Amino acid sequence: MHISVFGTGYVGLVAGACLADVGHQVTCMDVNAERIDQLKGGEVPIFEPGLSTIVAHNVAAGRLRFTADAAQAVADGELLFIAVGTPPDEDGSADLRYVLEVARTIGQHMDSYKLVIDKSTVPVGTAEKVHAAISDVLEQRGVSLAFDVCSNPEFMKEGAAIDDFTRGARIIVGTESERVKAHMQECYAPYNRNHEKLMFMSVRAAELTKYAANAMLATKISFMNEIANLAERLEVDVEDVRRGIGSDPRIGYHFIYPGCGYGGSCFPKDVQALERAARQLGYTPELLSAVESVNLRQKQTLFTKLQDNLGSLSGKTIAVWGLAFKPNTDDMREAPSRTLMEALWQAGAKVQAFDPEAMTECRRIYGERDDLMLAGDRIQAVKGADALVICTEWKEFRSVDFDWLADQLAEKVVIDGRNLYTPSAVEEAGLRYIGVGRKR
Ligand code: UGA
Repeated sequence: MHISVFGTGYVGLVAGACLADVGHQVTCMDVNAERIDQLKGGEVPIFEPGLSTIVAHNVAAGRLRFTADAAQAVADGELLFIAVGTPPDEDGSADLRYVLEVARTIGQHMDSYKLVIDKSTVPVGTAEKVHAAISDVLEQRGVSLAFDVCSNPEFMKEGAAIDDFTRGARIIVGTESERVKAHMQECYAPYNRNHEKLMFMSVRAAELTKYAANAMLATKISFMNEIANLAERLEVDVEDVRRGIGSDPRIGYHFIYPGCGYGGSCFPKDVQALERAARQLGYTPELLSAVESVNLRQKQTLFTKLQDNLGSLSGKTIAVWGLAFKPNTDDMREAPSRTLMEALWQAGAKVQAFDPEAMTECRRIYGERDDLMLAGDRIQAVKGADALVICTEWKEFRSVDFDWLADQLAEKVVIDGRNLYTPSAVEEAGLRYIGVGRKR
């Protein structure tokens, strides 16, 4: 099939590369000409395991190409995926500016049937707005052309995006049209071989499904963080509770890891957008508001724990292991590490930070500053520090010689924001161990 993808962020680039990889002819378009030049030069601007190889392979095979020319992208594809960003506007609602801009561009350049597919996470009712935007432009042009708009939300996780796209549990398509169903069946046939993954539903149901999925996952995390905070006060180890409840198949082990709060570009933004959408409908979403506020509080716990154990943090040096919002990505959007570092600077402390992938991103966000040392490795980060905080559970932080660590840290305090270590093993080395909801 001939497919064009608008937007070369995580979602657009992974979708475009994976669709080309199964034999479709794909054009990826972005208004950011610099990004397109990078991609044309073989440089993949995001860190996503396996992505560069798939991009390079499909570019070489002539199935994947990049352009900043919107007219070209509209002409190239019969299926047009919209995968541009929907950042939060001032009140937290999703800003549809970019999605509707693409819709108008499609209306301007199309000269045959097009199936327009919303892949971005968009509020319920967006497909109708996209439809109206295209119709308006066609009317202004004085042309009458058939087109459809459907919703096909994406469920991939950063760091595992390719696997999620190619082996995901389900493919949700919101449409009532038989013609659209046939096109989508053909598009996804290579991923739909072992069992039926395509789920057709109304456009609005598909749009809500995406928000509901992320809000449910965020709820599990905030719930578990609340239990962890309670466990701390009851002198219970939350890890026992996690294993205890996870063994019930109705609850399950996934997404019940307590920690220093969820970050990333999706959960915080989507929970907020759904909450704001509910309020606009005159409905007060008690649970969604609590999920968000518990998370905001949780992101501050690392700083509070440091203060509780070190007293004033002014003049102290804190080592931070992990800056990305989770492992296997260089993404620091809404990362708990940022809440921590910003609070530490405010309190007059210095930070020595290390992350296996996010150092460039950290430098881009914070630039050069006297109170931030970007360490070359985890060893350099702890040298001369008073305490260590773990913000991201990268594999390489899992095994540590605690005797060596005790020699490095002047105040001998380890704050484990991801519950990576066994408290007794750390404490045997003479360190004070503070996890999230752990019994010491
Ligand atoms: C999330 C969803 O998991 C995807 O299904 C969805 O497609 C995506 O958003 C999206 O809407 O695009 P992602 O943000 O990449 O994916 O990352 P997750 O792996 O879900 O982690 C989100 C945050 O939750 C991380 O900060 C992680 O550390 C935290 N988390 C996760 C916990 O604190 N505890 C857990 O048990 C699980």
